[in-house]
Amino acid sequence: MHEITLTVNGVVQQVAVPGRRLLSDCLRHDLGLTGTHVGCEHGVCGCCTVLLDGEPVRSCLVFAVGADGHEITTVEGLAAPDGTLSPVQRAFAECHGLQCGFCTPGFLCTVTALLRQNPAPTEEEVLEGVSGNLCRCTGYQNIVKSVHRAAEIMAEDR
Ligand code: FES
Ligand code: FES
Repeated sequence: MHEITLTVNGVVQQVAVPGRRLLSDCLRHDLGLTGTHVGCEHGVCGCCTVLLDGEPVRSCLVFAVGADGHEITTVEGLAAPDGTLSPVQRAFAECHGLQCGFCTPGFLCTVTALLRQNPAPTEEEVLEGVSGNLCRCTGYQNIVKSVHRAAEIMAEDR
């Protein structure tokens, strides 16, 4: 077992994990943060996307020990401490960017990072930005709308 320290959603967490524990399993099983979903478990679907030092990563492809000493944001950490939804969360709710919700945590993390890097993406940039996340329900139309709406909300809030 390895003792590691992760800062998850601003909280320092110490956890003992086997060397081969995936970050996705560590978040879900060791820390109880089941908002991070696991779909394919081999890097294809994007459901397990979290932010590692602000960058989106597929947590099923990262060993927990590899994240030792780093900052992680999961879907549980996107809203403000008082529960106010983030602009991306608000936009997905407004534009019906989800149906069953299984893919949603991954999309929310991916889009949060995308809009931090590019606050006013073009249609093509949005499509490219979400191309690594799979959704089996929505047909993507409302997800794309949600990304543009989130960009608008962020611009209004500035
Ligand atoms: S569960 Fe990680 S990419 Fe599908
Ligand atoms: S909303 Fe069901 S998989 Fe995307």
